[in-house]
Amino acid sequence: MSVAREPIGVIGTGYVGLVTAAGFAELGSDVWCVDIDADKIARLQAGEVPIYEPGLKELLARNVERLHFSTDLATALEHARLLFVAVGTPPTYSGDADLSAVHAVVDAIPAASDRALVMKSTVPCGTGASLLRVFGEQGKDALGYVSCPEFLKEGSAVNDFLHPDRVVVGDHGDWAGDAVTALYAPLDAPLVRTDIASAEMVKLASNAFLATKISFINEIANVCEETGADVVEVARGMGLDDRIGAKFLQAGIGFGGSCFPKDVDALKQLAGNSGYHFQLLTAVIEVNELQKRRVIGKLHKHLGGLAGKRIALLGLAFKPNTDDMREASSLVLSARLHADGATITAYDPVAEEQARKLVTGITFAGSPLEAVRGADAAVLVTEWRELVELDWKLVAEAMSGRLLIDGRNALDPETVRAGGLLYEGIGRKALEARPSEASLSGGPT
Ligand SMILES: NC(=O)c1ccc[n+]([C@@H]2O[C@H](COP(=O)([O-])OP(=O)(O)OC[C@H]3O[C@@H](n4cnc5c(N)ncnc54)[C@H](O)[C@@H]3O)[C@@H](O)[C@H]2O)c1
Repeated sequence: MSVAREPIGVIGTGYVGLVTAAGFAELGSDVWCVDIDADKIARLQAGEVPIYEPGLKELLARNVERLHFSTDLATALEHARLLFVAVGTPPTYSGDADLSAVHAVVDAIPAASDRALVMKSTVPCGTGASLLRVFGEQGKDALGYVSCPEFLKEGSAVNDFLHPDRVVVGDHGDWAGDAVTALYAPLDAPLVRTDIASAEMVKLASNAFLATKISFINEIANVCEETGADVVEVARGMGLDDRIGAKFLQAGIGFGGSCFPKDVDALKQLAGNSGYHFQLLTAVIEVNELQKRRVIGKLHKHLGGLAGKRIALLGLAFKPNTDDMREASSLVLSARLHADGATITAYDPVAEEQARKLVTGITFAGSPLEAVRGADAAVLVTEWRELVELDWKLVAEAMSGRLLIDGRNALDPETVRAGGLLYEGIGRKALEARPSEASLSGGPT
């Protein structure tokens, strides 16, 4: 990997930008990173990593000589032909993607620049075409454009960058598309080289499909609860069919994060704006919203009411191995618990700092056992390994009630019951309380 490689610019140093920068530096490129967040850039310059992502700290440290951080776009323009854009594209009130950060980047590029923007941010299908029109209007006809959607998953982003399932490059068959393809060549991943609109749609359709799979299995879970089937067994039986596949068939309390909710919504709105009513996605979104609230119903069923009850939330991040709290199911859960008068104590191994910015009315605990101390019920919200491997006997001893709700179906019910707790998962066989377990705090089961 010592061959001199094309230097690149990366605009936006969040989860995607920072991993992309570190990954390309690992492959040998000098990377000129730019962000408008001066505090983030100062931390990166000081060798700090502002987000939690396994392996990222080590990757950045190993390639520190090749990584340059600045708030000034001119540094990237000076050194690189390819400018990877990884700024946020959050939802607007209408559900469409907010492209203002993307437009701010375009506006900041000087006229007559012969660079190319490589779009990593997830944008609606048609964005490339409309940006190329903007380039023309702004006298930036020499500016190239490539769509190169990102598929990394937070929590395994470094590995996903270095070992992608595929690389998608959407372009006009010009120098920029060739240069992006060459950058990814050492990764030896299947390449889908296509037009810009199709590349944009690959990303949206992929996320929408995965979200659909999750909402589908969640609905199956809900039917399992009514019919006595166990969704874990059902998913196992389904997943062995290689037309279906086992991934994304884990029922739980719904999907969250910075991508699925907004990308599904954005595709639905995009379809609507184009005159097509995407009915399936409407259902996927609604099922997901209801799923986040199902835990509340289970708590009511067992505790007979939540006013004055102490509920422990185990995990807050939208999934394990990340500190990302965007659209986390825990946000809805804690708000509903709060509204119903419950007292909430929560523990997350890394997301506390992010959670404090988004939620009020939670007491943060320094350990799982501290979180469950005196609790009437505990809910496993995020399946961090540390939480999945808890000693349930110690948990039972610390709690004042016995109810444990496994919001991710990540636990072995018998192990939890052996610890002295009453286990309830999502779409799993209802476990009758044994006589010795019958004294649930607050009332009927
Ligand atoms: N996070 C993921 O797992 C993931 C995966 C695939 C794709 N994506 C997409 O990638 C994009 C970025 O996502 P993220 O999670 O990294 O977001 P993020 O919020 O973590 O990072 C975005 C960064 O862009 C910076 N920024 C905003 N405007 C800027 C500007 N004008 N110039 C320079 N920097 C600017 C912000 O300060 C921030 O640091 C989004 O479109 C997202 O949908 C995210």
